[in-house]
Amino acid sequence: MGGIRTLFSEAEIAARVGTLAAEIARTIPGDFVMVGLLKGAALFVADLARALDRVGAHPEIEFMRLSSYGLATTSSGDVRLLGDIPTDVAGRRVLLIDDIVDTGRSIAFATALLRQRKILDLWTCALLDKPERREVDVSIDFVGFRIGDEFVVGYGIDYAEKYRHLPYIGVVD
Ligand code: IMP
Ligand code: MG
Repeated sequence: MGGIRTLFSEAEIAARVGTLAAEIARTIPGDFVMVGLLKGAALFVADLARALDRVGAHPEIEFMRLSSYGLATTSSGDVRLLGDIPTDVAGRRVLLIDDIVDTGRSIAFATALLRQRKILDLWTCALLDKPERREVDVSIDFVGFRIGDEFVVGYGIDYAEKYRHLPYIGVVD
């Protein structure tokens, strides 16, 4: 496998996470729970939580794990729940967070699951959005960056479990 071509540098990501946190804090009234989708959104959630603190928000943090692509670079379309959050989110405001929205199936699945739990309100957030690839109509309230139809890695995002540790986002050449 060749090198990684940088798409978003560490500094670009940090700057966008900061402005995204400000947008979120302006939009969501009062307390809320961040629900990140593992493993891809883990690094993003960690940075976004701290950025939210800097703008005066104090969210709780939970994670949910969905089935992944495995070794493939395209979605199988079959989303399953591998690990749940505690179900006591009834009456809460929830900010659902993923690394990338691609076909939209993962975020649609997680949204439907959370809505069954009598939550007060739900917002969705993705660091990256690939609108060209959408197969399911989902609304993403907060988007870090829109990108084209290319396979990216880094900053939590993997290819066959590699590259999650990279502090930047890039394309494998
Ligand atoms: P969706 O269900 O098709 O929207 O897929 C969303 C999930 O697919 C994301 O949470 C990622 O884990 C994964 N994914 C989508 N695009 C990429 C990519 O370019 N690189 C690595 N993983 C991706
Ligand atoms: Mg994912």
